[in-house]
Amino acid sequence: MASEALTVSSSKKRRNRRGRRQQDETKNMIRLAPERPSTPTAISIESGPTIINSHELQLRFLNPGDLPEVKRLCHEWFPIEYPDTWYTDITSTQKFYSVAAVYRGQIVGLVVAEIKDGHSLPKEDSEILASTFDKSSKIGYILSLGVVKGFRKQGIASFLLENLIAHLTTGENSHDVKAVYLHVLTTNNAAITFYEHRGFRPHLFLPYYYAIGGRRRDGFTYVLYLNGGHPPWRLLDYMSNCCQICLSVLNPWSLTKAAFRKVNLAWFNAMPRIRQIAHGTTAVFS
Ligand code: COA
Repeated sequence: MASEALTVSSSKKRRNRRGRRQQDETKNMIRLAPERPSTPTAISIESGPTIINSHELQLRFLNPGDLPEVKRLCHEWFPIEYPDTWYTDITSTQKFYSVAAVYRGQIVGLVVAEIKDGHSLPKEDSEILASTFDKSSKIGYILSLGVVKGFRKQGIASFLLENLIAHLTTGENSHDVKAVYLHVLTTNNAAITFYEHRGFRPHLFLPYYYAIGGRRRDGFTYVLYLNGGHPPWRLLDYMSNCCQICLSVLNPWSLTKAAFRKVNLAWFNAMPRIRQIAHGTTAVFS
């Protein structure tokens, strides 16, 4: 949640293929005929949990016509007031990856993310990536992810997140994206569980990060590292690494191997001397 994102398996591969197909279709939809949002109507979910496999569930980029509906949904999902310019930005500028899950013409979920320069993040996020990464390193930031209440627990947020991560890890310059992160209220257990089950890890506790209804509320930063990305090493990391090296050196198998190597070397070095003695002995007896 701005001021305030996996795990993919065999059935998921199928979904991924479908996701990619849908992304292509999505691109076409946007390029050729941007879909306008329909008037929000109560859609019954008689298809139940199989909605994620339904051909009627599609992904598409947001467009300016979605603004009122996106605003209504964000009011419903988040306790934060976003300025109107934010809604204009996420529905009309290329700067954001703003994708909606649409079922029978109704937006049932959406994700908004952006790719930031890894070395020019706000102070509170500046330690997400180790400074050893070069200047071209990028970081994905999830501003918003939400699913309409009646459509939750059917895999829609996972589907949106998988597609976002595919976007961040495939294609041009994708290897530069070293992490994806987000901010979340410490009290938002559903979102925290959702992200933790998808490999995100808590990075920072942000006291009084949010201003909600005149009160300050705490937040967390959650991060998923991609393409070999990692946070700066702290003393504990150095200590645990040293312990790992010591353990690997001291393990019985490594010790036996090292001892065998030493005996072999000593034997090899002694060979000329033994040969010399043997030669000398033969000379005496002949
Ligand atoms: N039947 C039953 N359960 C299913 C399912 C199915 N067919 N498909 C998925 N699920 C389970 C998933 O396994 C997952 O549980 P897990 O985390 O233990 O694996 C759980 O439902 C949720 O996954 P999913 O369905 O992909 O998420 P969702 O669509 O319910 O959306 C949130 C999750 C957090 C986005 C949603 O609760 C929400 O919109 N919250 C309000 C907005 C918000 O707080 N956003 C986060 C702030 S950034």
